Amino acid sequence: MAAQTTELSVNPGPIMGLMAGHWQVRMLLAAVEHGVFTELAGRSATSAELAGDLGLVPLGANDLLVGLSHLGLLELRDGKFTNSAVADRFLVQGRAEYIGGYLRFCERELNPAWDGLATALRTGEPQNRAAVDGNPYDTLYQDADATDGFLDSMDLLNTPVALAMSRFDWSRYSSFVDIGGARGNFAHQVVTQNPHLKGAVFDLPPLEPAFKRHMDRLGGANSTVAFHGGDFFTDRLPEADVLVFGHVLHNWGVADRVRLLTSAYEAVRPGGAVFVYDPMAGGDEPSMHAVLAGLAMLVWSHGGAEYSVRQLHGWLAEAGFRPETAEVAGLHDDVLVIGHKDR
Ligand SMILES: C[S@@+](CC[C@H](N)C(=O)[O-])C[C@H]1O[C@@H](n2cnc3c(N)ncnc32)[C@H](O)[C@@H]1O
Repeated sequence: MAAQTTELSVNPGPIMGLMAGHWQVRMLLAAVEHGVFTELAGRSATSAELAGDLGLVPLGANDLLVGLSHLGLLELRDGKFTNSAVADRFLVQGRAEYIGGYLRFCERELNPAWDGLATALRTGEPQNRAAVDGNPYDTLYQDADATDGFLDSMDLLNTPVALAMSRFDWSRYSSFVDIGGARGNFAHQVVTQNPHLKGAVFDLPPLEPAFKRHMDRLGGANSTVAFHGGDFFTDRLPEADVLVFGHVLHNWGVADRVRLLTSAYEAVRPGGAVFVYDPMAGGDEPSMHAVLAGLAMLVWSHGGAEYSVRQLHGWLAEAGFRPETAEVAGLHDDVLVIGHKDR
């Protein structure tokens, strides 16, 4: 009897569940592509009504909708479907917190690279053509729709960091530049909460129009964040009390990280600092988030990977900084490490 219990407790369920998870993702993406949640905003409908409105075949539509209710994205009552609270907030196109851009970026840009994970693990080569040929961002920014999806994704990940960092004590500093600061989401939040700060973003020139649009959306005419277009591998970094590298160093190999920190040391004013945040591993065992981010870097970037806090301390010291791991509440999956430039 005991032997049977043991056999039943070890079964392939967890493995099959992972495979089913992959198909559930396909259901979510298909539903978003066909506008299911947007169509259901503020109304309820039977599967036949919804299939008619969206031009779907009734049999498949019914399976899809029932499946989405099992996933907690729809609710089914008296034969009619409505959005669940989470779907209504994040999956209805046009809503402020719509995350369709993030899903589109994952599907178009990251998932094809993830398909080559087994190859990347054997060769160490990125599975993203653009990263083999050069800076993958140059190719990404040639496609306006992909760029918007990417920037939505970045802001989804950097918003908790921006909120936490805007509560950080900035009183000893008067200026900062967010290096690789994308469309300025982090910089805007920090300046809004700390109006004594002069904030700027340094990023590739093609992002400037998206930066301007985002600043208009967030701050209107009051936005004081400046944009410096340039390439951080070939241009001098702008001077400031603080230079921030957020979700940037893990995109690049070790030599490039040290190169960027060395350029930062030249640009940071004496008494200032460099702030680095990434999902790095604090201890010896990386979190699942850090593992996924690390593998995403392996397949998508050239030489990128997650790294440990201890490694970063070493690179900061090599560049001339005095490293310190800062405790900041609310950073979620990220760690903040500060490199001080002593006077
Ligand atoms: C992963 S994103 C991080 C964005 C933002 N800091 C955040 O935390 O969400 C990396 C950023 O680095 C920028 N970047 C990549 N290569 C660059 C280069 N050579 N010079 C300047 N910026 C670059 C990209 O355009 C992108 O905005």
